[in-house]
Amino acid sequence: MRTIIEPFRIKTVEPLRMTTHEERERILKDAHYNPFKIPARDVLIDLLTDSGTGAMSSLQWAAMMRGDESYAGADSFYEFESVVQDLTGFEHILPTHQGRAAERILFELVGGDGKVVPNNNHFDTTRANIEHSGARAVDLVIEEGRHPEIRHPFKGNMDIEALEALIDEVGVANVPIVMVTITDNSDGGQPVSLENLRAVRAVCDRHGIPLFLDACRFAENAWFIKMREDGQAERTVKEIVRDTFALADGATISAKKDGLVNIGGILLLRDEALAERADALLILTEGYVTYGGLAGRDLEAMAQGLREVVDEDYLSYRIRSTAYLGEKLMEIGYPIVEPPGGHAIYIDAGRTCDHIPPEQFPGQALVCALYMEAGIRGVEIGSVMFGGGEEPPALELVRLAIPRRVYTQSHIDYVIEASAAVFERRHELPGLRMTNAPPVLRHFTARFDVIPRVAEAAG
Ligand code: F0G
Repeated sequence: MRTIIEPFRIKTVEPLRMTTHEERERILKDAHYNPFKIPARDVLIDLLTDSGTGAMSSLQWAAMMRGDESYAGADSFYEFESVVQDLTGFEHILPTHQGRAAERILFELVGGDGKVVPNNNHFDTTRANIEHSGARAVDLVIEEGRHPEIRHPFKGNMDIEALEALIDEVGVANVPIVMVTITDNSDGGQPVSLENLRAVRAVCDRHGIPLFLDACRFAENAWFIKMREDGQAERTVKEIVRDTFALADGATISAKKDGLVNIGGILLLRDEALAERADALLILTEGYVTYGGLAGRDLEAMAQGLREVVDEDYLSYRIRSTAYLGEKLMEIGYPIVEPPGGHAIYIDAGRTCDHIPPEQFPGQALVCALYMEAGIRGVEIGSVMFGGGEEPPALELVRLAIPRRVYTQSHIDYVIEASAAVFERRHELPGLRMTNAPPVLRHFTARFDVIPRVAEAAG
């Protein structure tokens, strides 16, 4: 089989700035060994997130000029609405400035004290919005999803028995909605099958509970279904996307992922009465119902992005390029969350740097090493992000997320070469000490110091 190439050519370029080893040493020290504090201009290849970091197409930029900035009833809204309706079949379509704004509105309406919201795995902002409302967020991914080394085609699937048991335990009246995140970001970008969604739907129907999707990466999930699920290979991604949304009563979407835009979100609802209450909150905190938290031009870019993201040449390249990075890292010897997910590769830093205990942050040590080696920025998902409690988190991961349509295969080859060099000296990487630990969301602002290695300290 031939190389799966980037199915686009480049019309506008943005220069990257090279730095020297000495410069990076100083930059990292100035950033207190926290990559969130490194100025983006000092990063060569930025794999911090796939959210809002994608490149827009010429048609998206052209559409932005068409943006109708009328306060109410702008053409851009009707264009956006018709594209979303065609793709998802939802009647009530509320534009928000990003995903978490849709989550905040939803959980103000359905959350609250004593409520329990199950999900395969809640993303951090979803969990935070649920907890902020007074409710409890519970993760019910299948057992395979809890083990990085186990392969399963749909590792993001929900554990149906555990869902039934939870509903029995807390009582139907306390479960306002069931959520499923596609793809499952907190579990390595792993997909959920249509079969599993139907099984969740059946449980919801039996109890009269609405099913909501956190559908940020709905197109990537649909591609995995086409590739891996029995009977789906001959169907179009668009048909699979429609089937997926048809199973749900609502959805929250961060369009910064599969909307192929730099800003934007969507709340989708079927229930008329709920939509009316959501409209009121949208007006209160985002903006009027026909623009939400966005400008008319943003709605145009989102409408065009949603058309482009279901293009199968794009999705084939997208998922293949992520798998390519994952396969090469495994060849080097890195343990990763297997199989590679849709938008990112998750390295098991706890196993890579098994000489660094969780309290010395092996993930952060690896993130710093990748930056020092070649100016690559990843993000720790382990004791820095989720630590500080009584138990360290189960896994010490480093996420390398791939922005959409931004980097070419040679950029990724460069990441692979740098990762190989770091792997060679993985057992020499020093651990870190947290010198400043903010009480909430500490990964954004925490400061660190390098713990000198015993040999160096002695010398
Ligand atoms: N749900 C999922 C599954 C996400 O991955 C994100 C964002 C959100 C909701 C919130 O959307 O950022 O537009 O408010 N994930 C980004 C990431 C930040 O890096 O994974 P948002």
